[in-house]
Amino acid sequence: MKIDIVSVFPEYFDVMNLSLMGKAQDKGLLRITAHNLRDWTHDVHHSVDDTPVGGGAGMVMKPSVWAECLDELLGPEPADSPVLIFPNPSAPLFTQRDATELSHAEHLLFGCGRYEGYDARIPEYYRSRGVDVREYSIGDYVLNGGEVATSVMLEAITRLIPGFMGNSDSIVEESYTGSNALLEHRQYTKPAEWRGLKVPDILLSGDHGKVDRYRRDEALERTSQIRPDLIERLDCKSLDKADRKT
Ligand code: ADE
Repeated sequence: MKIDIVSVFPEYFDVMNLSLMGKAQDKGLLRITAHNLRDWTHDVHHSVDDTPVGGGAGMVMKPSVWAECLDELLGPEPADSPVLIFPNPSAPLFTQRDATELSHAEHLLFGCGRYEGYDARIPEYYRSRGVDVREYSIGDYVLNGGEVATSVMLEAITRLIPGFMGNSDSIVEESYTGSNALLEHRQYTKPAEWRGLKVPDILLSGDHGKVDRYRRDEALERTSQIRPDLIERLDCKSLDKADRKT
């Protein structure tokens, strides 16, 4: 997968050379390039923003600089262009479903806004040209810019690329995965007792059927306590008789 990121702080993405993301780049699974938006400016101050039309606080990223940058990085043919993603706190929430869908893309281009955001005509223009443009929020809070949101989305997307994780089972069993998305059951490791706290006996029983049932019950219970909204969205067909009792 090819990934381009445009930001006024491309150094933010130096961390992409570390850990599993770095290994995936070494293996050739990923090619990440961070570009500096200011490289597409022409004035001495390399300015990328201007005051908001209609008044208000802060500055808005201007369309002219973004357009020069995006025209170059997207290329002339919309059908061959990358999926263009703008992090935006006022956009629909980015979910595991989006991460799964985007993990199949060949090329992603993230545009990181700063200040009070970017001129609304930027995504509108590229959408009208046939580019697949997405705007996503990563949560109901406001960050200083799109860089951290891009890192979050990138990590969620790239770890789903086949070969990225050592053990693909760890992806299948995780929270928010599949149509039957529940919070994951709690995990324990050895020793069986630590500082007076015991691992639940059933997990030590060796009975895989009972362990699975215990974990499933725990996942249902924790989800109904912590995230009742996820229970409401559950596909009833994915529940079995034993689930209905809990
Ligand atoms: N930019 C600032 N806050 C954000 C958020 N919550 N999600 C995505 N992009 C953002």
